[in-house]
Amino acid sequence: MADRDFLWGSATASFQVEGATREGGRSESVWDTFCRIPGRVHAGDTGDVSTDHYHRYKEDVQLLKDLGVGAYRFSLSWPRILPQGTGEPNAQGIAFYNSLIDELIAAGIKPVVTLYHWDHPQVLEDQGGWQNRQMAQWFLEYAKVCFQAFDDRVAMWSTINEPWSVAELGYRWGMHAPGIRDEQASVSVIHHMNLAHGLAVSEYRAQGRSKPIGIVLNPQMPRPVTQDPDDVLAADIAADRGIRMYLDPLIGKGYPQRWIDQHPDLTIPLEDGDLDIMAETLDYLGVNYYSEGVVGAPRTEQERQHGFRYCLSWHPRTLMDWPVVPEGITRMLHWLHDHTGGIPQYIMENGACYDDSVSIDVVGHGAEYHKVQRVHDHQRLHYISRHIAQVLKAREEGVAIKGYFVWSFIDNFEWSHGYSRRFGIVYHDYKTLERIPKDSYYWFRDLLTGYGTLD
Ligand code: NOJ
Repeated sequence: MADRDFLWGSATASFQVEGATREGGRSESVWDTFCRIPGRVHAGDTGDVSTDHYHRYKEDVQLLKDLGVGAYRFSLSWPRILPQGTGEPNAQGIAFYNSLIDELIAAGIKPVVTLYHWDHPQVLEDQGGWQNRQMAQWFLEYAKVCFQAFDDRVAMWSTINEPWSVAELGYRWGMHAPGIRDEQASVSVIHHMNLAHGLAVSEYRAQGRSKPIGIVLNPQMPRPVTQDPDDVLAADIAADRGIRMYLDPLIGKGYPQRWIDQHPDLTIPLEDGDLDIMAETLDYLGVNYYSEGVVGAPRTEQERQHGFRYCLSWHPRTLMDWPVVPEGITRMLHWLHDHTGGIPQYIMENGACYDDSVSIDVVGHGAEYHKVQRVHDHQRLHYISRHIAQVLKAREEGVAIKGYFVWSFIDNFEWSHGYSRRFGIVYHDYKTLERIPKDSYYWFRDLLTGYGTLD
């Protein structure tokens, strides 16, 4: 599996793993606030301790090294670096990420860094957060501090992780922080995030910096339920809001006109020059893929307003209730390749949530035997294996795909599900903070070292 042109890695995000929310000069993020609103996060879980990665990063880097990955994808915590959201950087926050980055490099692992994975400072949300156009300027300020501090050692930069999730789950449906339910707000948020991305990339390039910089999207592009032209059209309409609103302005195509025409009641707060700032700002496209939806032609009046109806698929589901559709990753990669004119792509997240339990296994025999803890997560292992096979298939078919990251390196805070959902290839015992590599970890290690196969 070792291939110098292909980057293998695993990923996490700051709020999901770090803990230490009140240490090192960090201020509150929107997620700290959201966790405290009764009923919003499963069992009232918070990010206060999580996996305690903030204190245990050396142990985690050692596990990554033993795994044999070429890269580790993680995100920076904005409230750790700029506790006031803007202004004076926090030396302790910068020092933490310097230590993590240095540790990774010493282990021969490339740092792949996301600037924003949803945990913006609460002080900025108090001023409207992403609904406020000024947020793009605040993000630029934050990005500049990060470029200055870490660019010498970072291998690749991503500006924003899954703007779709922020806009849809955070500001339209209220399931994520900041918990707002307002469709117009979500449309403004999309534009302000696109602008923030554009400003940061333009600044990065203007400073003469040279690492690949891009964004990480989670394309919501369902397949049509049949090949009937009406179903095919419905799936294409769903992709307007599911991917084109996020991707097209960044590749110089502007916002999808069909979506604008179909939503006269919603306004994209475009100002002169915005589209120029956002255009051609991707050295690569990062994509997260977990599942593929299914839609068909609308039948009811309400469905006609959206342009499509949701359908069910026959596929087995993970514990998140997401259908397992490995072929969907290949379809998505091809679509994106054709749509972007072949921009290099990285799978920045792919993985699965299943119920894990720790078994006590016996190793050795006779007087030599001893007991070890193992986690036999074979459903996850098969999920990952089948998806990697599909990624490599797309690559053989000519898609410019340059890397694959498993989500996640370790079980962590799964947003509104708290700690009730495990995605890690390393098991985390939330009581003892112990790490136990799962079978999927050992399988991935064997794949990377050439002793394993895909099945
Ligand atoms: C995508 C998000 O980027 C990540 O934070 C989340 O944990 C996974 N999806 C799984 O839901």
